[in-house]
Amino acid sequence: MKTRTKTSDELKQTVKEKYAEISEQSRDKNATSCCGSSCGCDTVDYSVFADDYSKMEGYNADADLGLGCGLPTEYAHISEGDTVVDLGSGAGNDCFVARQETGESGRVIGLDMTEKMIAKAQKNAAKIGFENVEFVLGDIEDMPLEDDLADVVVSNCVLNLVPDKDLAFAETHRIIKPGGHFSISDVVIRGELPSALKEDAEMYAGCVSGAIDIDTYLDIIAEAGFINIKIQKSKPIQLPDEILASYMDEKEIESFRNSETGIYSITVYAEKPA
Ligand SMILES: C[S@@+](CC[C@H](N)C(=O)[O-])C[C@H]1O[C@@H](n2cnc3c(N)ncnc32)[C@H](O)[C@@H]1O
Repeated sequence: MKTRTKTSDELKQTVKEKYAEISEQSRDKNATSCCGSSCGCDTVDYSVFADDYSKMEGYNADADLGLGCGLPTEYAHISEGDTVVDLGSGAGNDCFVARQETGESGRVIGLDMTEKMIAKAQKNAAKIGFENVEFVLGDIEDMPLEDDLADVVVSNCVLNLVPDKDLAFAETHRIIKPGGHFSISDVVIRGELPSALKEDAEMYAGCVSGAIDIDTYLDIIAEAGFINIKIQKSKPIQLPDEILASYMDEKEIESFRNSETGIYSITVYAEKPA
């Protein structure tokens, strides 16, 4: 039977429900069961992505739900006094690290479409007592933020979940000041994965992931008007033999492992022309 593809609104609703559930789980629970018991993807292991923020200044353990796939804020060249926007801020992990760099004279805005994540992030900010970190409910495809607002945009493992990536990067371009920049960590595909394997691999790598081809991803960034696009970091996500074995024999697995085809977590940087 042919299955109907989900509409963009349905996809977003699924993502919201998933992350509302995750917002109530601890980091340890997320690391072992990804997106909770209802997800049906027990093999998922977010620790395949795990880049460790815990040694960074500003790190707040309550805000770290183990959901990132890079350290964009570390690579974001944030200066004191900057306005930083974090797209898909979750419980605020990158926002609190960014606040360490902007200091009291800066401003940090976390944007997320999941109400429970916003509530959790606000609670974390109140506990720390920051007055210049705020969390705003809204969709990355239609941000409730003014033009030319941010010196720096960061985002950690979010844009793969956004159905319309053209719109996401067009909106990112709109809210960055001329001469500003972004550093974004995300999940992308390199090379041709058989479609059934891609589905399983995405399941493994993040449940409701809509990761796209890396060249397409970089083209979308350029088409949105960004320049000086650089990949700051690229890390292959190792798919376990159990998954590959459903689609390939031993020899094919070996040649797959020796190729560059696969799922990658990347951190990409780009500038809005001055
Ligand atoms: C994988 S989590 C990452 C959270 C956070 N960046 C971190 O590293 O802990 C994805 C987050 O993005 C949010 N999100 C997904 N799609 C979104 C969209 N279209 N607009 C705003 N937020 C979105 C989800 O609600 C969730 O909190």
